Amino acid sequence: MKEYKGTSIIISHDRYFLDKVVNRIVEIVDGKAEVYEGNYSYYIREKQERYESQLAKYNQEQKKIKQLEEAAKRMHEWAKRADNEAMHKRAFSIEKRIERMDKTDKPVIEGNMNTVFQEYGFSGKDMVYAKGLCKNYGDKKVLDGLDFLVQKNERIAVLGDNGSGKSTLIKIITGEAEADEGIAKMGDSVRYAYLPQIVTFENPRLTILETVIQALSLREGQARSLLAKYKFKQEEVHKTVENLSGGEKSRLRLCIMMQKDVNLLILDEPTNHLDIDSREWLESALEDFAGTLIFVSHDRYFINKFGSRISEISDGKIIDFYGDYEYYKEKKIFSRQENKEEVRVKAEKRQHEKIETVDKKAKESEEKHRDLEALIDSLEANLTDINCSMENCSEDYEALDSLYKEKVKIEAELEKLYEKWLTLSETHQSHY
Ligand SMILES: Nc1ncnc2c1ncn2[C@@H]1O[C@H](COP(=O)(O)OP(=O)(O)O)[C@@H](O)[C@H]1O
Ligand SMILES: [Mg+2]
Repeated sequence: MKEYKGTSIIISHDRYFLDKVVNRIVEIVDGKAEVYEGNYSYYIREKQERYESQLAKYNQEQKKIKQLEEAAKRMHEWAKRADNEAMHKRAFSIEKRIERMDKTDKPVIEGNMNTVFQEYGFSGKDMVYAKGLCKNYGDKKVLDGLDFLVQKNERIAVLGDNGSGKSTLIKIITGEAEADEGIAKMGDSVRYAYLPQIVTFENPRLTILETVIQALSLREGQARSLLAKYKFKQEEVHKTVENLSGGEKSRLRLCIMMQKDVNLLILDEPTNHLDIDSREWLESALEDFAGTLIFVSHDRYFINKFGSRISEISDGKIIDFYGDYEYYKEKKIFSRQENKEEVRVKAEKRQHEKIETVDKKAKESEEKHRDLEALIDSLEANLTDINCSMENCSEDYEALDSLYKEKVKIEAELEKLYEKWLTLSETHQSHY
């Protein structure tokens, strides 16, 4: 699929496959399409994030709706008591506003996505399993608690600066070197072949032909035709292997390796000594290989062609990128800008501080709100008393006059308080 240049639409439940092949995921939920611009790992992270942000948004809206509903209810009560038509109208307009508000659906989470993701990687598909590898050469710390898991059919490019420990890791996996700490093992079904960075032959005095005949127990004719496939010309097969160039040695070793029934190929900088023709030839040989591949390379073209996962060694540890070289480059730029952990911690702290000040403001305005309501209640009680008194002394003009003046004063005061209360209700909500 990776080789195919056109557009493809794939329906699949194979997470591993999805992780490697797709760059866009469309999930059908409740008859709608949810689009994720990335592979499976991205989808999992993004889905969780979307869930959390939708939930936060939903909760915020619900809170605001509740506050507005309470405000409207309260105002209706006051309006009824004071027989205030304008106040009713205001309450109705708040209710209209609630109706018109954009409302987020309450998000639902299905299954347990996190556990699904965690089980990823520990199955019978394991080809190479390395945990906590440490390796020092003298004072130099080369590997420092490195973890490396390789699964069936992965094609892994191991990258890293010169001297970062790529060859050391490969040698520990193949048993050529020993780790100071940690474990490295291969799966039971693994049959591997290894092309080291520097190829040597057990018996350098043998000719090319003799070497192949001995290694593969072939007859001379078979060996010759095999060597021809690997671009060793008729007149070359009698050269002794000690006189071969680095590239020729690599080619000869590959020729022998590829005849064995292997399901894991480990190549340490295979293209380094190769000219363009030989590189192309190596590429076509690898294209026919259907097994798992681990290779160290600095050849970007080669990495892009064969690497579907990039494992970068840096500071003695591995950072995995589940994608091809292009994906890796993108992520690298991204992570450089982000400076990861530091930025995340800062953002969290800032968010926390913000929440705290909002909480404080909200609390203050809530107190004011309550005070105001108490004041309104007591003035309304006064008003009721005055109305009562006015009925009782309807004969006494002077008393009536002063009561009436008092009533107008209180009503004006109340009007102001209602206004204040309403403004406060609005700002109170806007803190959230
Ligand atoms: N046998 C050894 N003895 C001492 N130092 C070594 C040995 N092998 C590797 N090193 C050192 O370990 C570091 C990692 O080497 P290596 O794994 O070959 O790096 P890479 O393959 O990533 O270029 C280098 O600094 C190298 O000099
Ligand atoms: Mg190396």
